[in-house]
Amino acid sequence: MIKVNENFLKLQAGYLFPEITRRVRKFADANPNAQIIKLGIGDVTEPLAPAVIEAMHKAVDEMAGRDTFRGYDDSGVGYEFLRKKIIENDYRSRGVDLDLDEIFVSDGAKCDTGNFQEILSDRNVIAVTDPVYPVYVDTNVMAGRTGNAKNNGKYTGIVYMPCTAENGFVPKLPVEKVDLIYLCYPNNPTGAVATKKQLSIWVDYARDNKAVILFDAAYEAFISDDSIPHSIYEIIGAKDVAIEFRSFSKTAGFTGLRCAFTVVPKQLKAYKTDGRTVDINPLWNRRHCTKFNGVSYVTQAAAAATYTTQGKKQIRQTIDLYMANATVIRSSLTKLGYEVYGGINAPYVWLKTPNGASSWDFFDRLLQKANVVGTPGAGFGAAGEGYFRLSAFNNLENVKEAMTRFAKL
Ligand code: MLT
Repeated sequence: MIKVNENFLKLQAGYLFPEITRRVRKFADANPNAQIIKLGIGDVTEPLAPAVIEAMHKAVDEMAGRDTFRGYDDSGVGYEFLRKKIIENDYRSRGVDLDLDEIFVSDGAKCDTGNFQEILSDRNVIAVTDPVYPVYVDTNVMAGRTGNAKNNGKYTGIVYMPCTAENGFVPKLPVEKVDLIYLCYPNNPTGAVATKKQLSIWVDYARDNKAVILFDAAYEAFISDDSIPHSIYEIIGAKDVAIEFRSFSKTAGFTGLRCAFTVVPKQLKAYKTDGRTVDINPLWNRRHCTKFNGVSYVTQAAAAATYTTQGKKQIRQTIDLYMANATVIRSSLTKLGYEVYGGINAPYVWLKTPNGASSWDFFDRLLQKANVVGTPGAGFGAAGEGYFRLSAFNNLENVKEAMTRFAKL
């Protein structure tokens, strides 16, 4: 008799974004004339940079010739031409030295942040921020690292670290000892950032407790404040205890193209039950190359083009456009009396729902009355209740129109 992995049955409802899509589709079917403005899922709206398109065309032509055609990426972890550019531009420029074999190119930070736990014991105690990007929690539920969900939506066996307005959405160290810590800064969903000092506290904790930090830096390109670290490796000692996830999705509009990378320092160790150390880098390499056959050549050529002079300039223009939207959202909502966070170093604005409305009630009201789609804070965890996320990924005209409709709510 075939048995299911019953851990999957512990998962609550559907994944957040399909549930939003379902509600929006139902509303749109019933109201075909409604001009819906989507500020929900963080999906980009602007086309790819011309430099990226040009590189893709060239790569397609190469694939058409016998001499220039490429099959599998032999290394399985990304072409050297891309990994070299990543190291030079994303790390060396910020004083961080990495070796080529510490970079693993993949098809998305969602997959990488979700998959990484697989090479770590199911006995580890995991800690997540609350609110949190649901992938970190759900993948640990699937792996059997939790008990059932309680009435408040929290799973037993996970340490939730509240991120509130009072702590600037950067959590305090947990009281209980934890082994695996998920941090995401600039933060999804709150749009908060962590300073070097705040990240140092976490790095020191991980070093003192032989723990590992999974650091999701998918939104680092949106940082405008020079004092904010873009990489956790800007913190002394982080290479011993942190894995970093990056993505071209939001940085360069690759949500439909798919390219990302994970940094696994060679000096990072985990432990066997007998206390002996194990290098994590070769384990991730083994896992990556066993279950994944690499990102297409055309896509990696496109990713490499984001580091050319033209590519960088064009990508910056698009990020500036999104961040101008965030500024409009922040200032309009502030004028309307909303309590607003984020949106300065991140493409997400996090607002308190008015009059204590539940976040799903506010979602429904906003959809029905203003035809604007956002993301209910409760979808990111219990501490997200009473909050709501608006994404800056849209065009300015739509964002302004959405704000006009907010004013009429
Ligand atoms: C979000 O809206 O939180 C993101 O788009 C999710 C993702 O990148 O998977």
